[in-house]
Amino acid sequence: MSLFSGIGGFELGFQSQGFKAEVCCEIDPNAQAVLRKRFSEATLMSDVADITKLPPVRVLTAGFPCQNLSLVGNNTGINGRDTKIVHDMFRVIATNPSPEWLILENVPFMLWQHKGEAIQFVTSTLSELGYKWAYRVVDARAFGLPQRRRRVLIVASKIHDPRSVVFGESHAEPEWLRDDGSVPVGFSWTEGRMGLGWAPNCVPTIKGGSRVGVPSPPAIWFRDSGLIGTPSLEDAERLQGFPSGWTKVEGLNRDSFRWKLIGNALPVVFGAWLARKIKDPSEPDVGSRERPWRERVWPNAAYDLGAGIMRVDISEFPEDKGSEGLASFLLDEVKPLSSKAALGFLNRARSGKLKFVDGFLDAVELHANRMKQDVGNNTLKRAA
Ligand SMILES: C[S@@+](CC[C@H](N)C(=O)[O-])C[C@H]1O[C@@H](n2cnc3c(N)ncnc32)[C@H](O)[C@@H]1O
Repeated sequence: MSLFSGIGGFELGFQSQGFKAEVCCEIDPNAQAVLRKRFSEATLMSDVADITKLPPVRVLTAGFPCQNLSLVGNNTGINGRDTKIVHDMFRVIATNPSPEWLILENVPFMLWQHKGEAIQFVTSTLSELGYKWAYRVVDARAFGLPQRRRRVLIVASKIHDPRSVVFGESHAEPEWLRDDGSVPVGFSWTEGRMGLGWAPNCVPTIKGGSRVGVPSPPAIWFRDSGLIGTPSLEDAERLQGFPSGWTKVEGLNRDSFRWKLIGNALPVVFGAWLARKIKDPSEPDVGSRERPWRERVWPNAAYDLGAGIMRVDISEFPEDKGSEGLASFLLDEVKPLSSKAALGFLNRARSGKLKFVDGFLDAVELHANRMKQDVGNNTLKRAA
């Protein structure tokens, strides 16, 4: 069962490993429409704040709202307008039968914002409720998805050792992400002054909204043809691990609705990995990688079984699945970035202090000029 179900990233991942989604809880009508269509047998609840009783479940997942925790959000922290619903989440958890496994998920910024106030609150509440917990920052690229998407996965249990799910293997950054100077590069075209999201052979994190509140897909620079474009909605769904067309349901008739749902989702690969580890836990194997946590900054991986917090020095890549790379992954033609958008990016980039690889800004300018000449003609293609 899940709270804050969104479009069912956890559900689909767990389902792929033989689990069944029985109850979902989601307040957004558009996300509800997707859940109704894709998990038609599950009971659908609406507002976590209204829940009093839950059925006993083996696994309870909750990717609680992160608007107040992320850099693109309003930075008000754990008690921000949307995120304060975590207090209701813990009320529901505390007053119902404990699940065998409790899985929480959020953005890595929760480890640093306001000195780690959010992770402090979440982990200390878990301990107070009698849960052993372990968390790790994990990158979706570990599972072969060409999207840089890092999430804090927090696993808690009163009866099992959560380290057996969270830790285990640790790999270096996969070889296919190496920038050999020819692979396509993803970047956030709405940024340019402060951040760039530079992502060789993958796209940066797909977001549900930008600083100005409009969903904005990442751009990709194809170095062979010079084309700069954004992926289709369907490829964005696949970049999140969903089948193409997952959010194409009746009533969702605006692309912006679908972009928002896709950008807010949990990559299906995370749910699948956690489900696999729950079915077949590995030796915790933290050995020489752990030590008591005494620093001020929260680490990228840690656990507490009741005897104090231990930090674990472990990578964000629990697997090294390999990937055919971004160009082969995309099934649809990208949509060329408009001349206006490219020039806007260029202006921001040239007035800021960021450093860019040689040739990149020239390529953006060339693309903008080609788009000006190409309006209505649309002959730009991905490959030269
Ligand atoms: C970070 S998203 C979770 C995404 C989800 N894991 C997925 O794969 O799509 C948080 C979700 O919580 C939902 N939400 C926010 N407040 C809620 C509430 N009070 N009750 C139920 N759902 C809520 C939002 O609509 C959003 O879909």
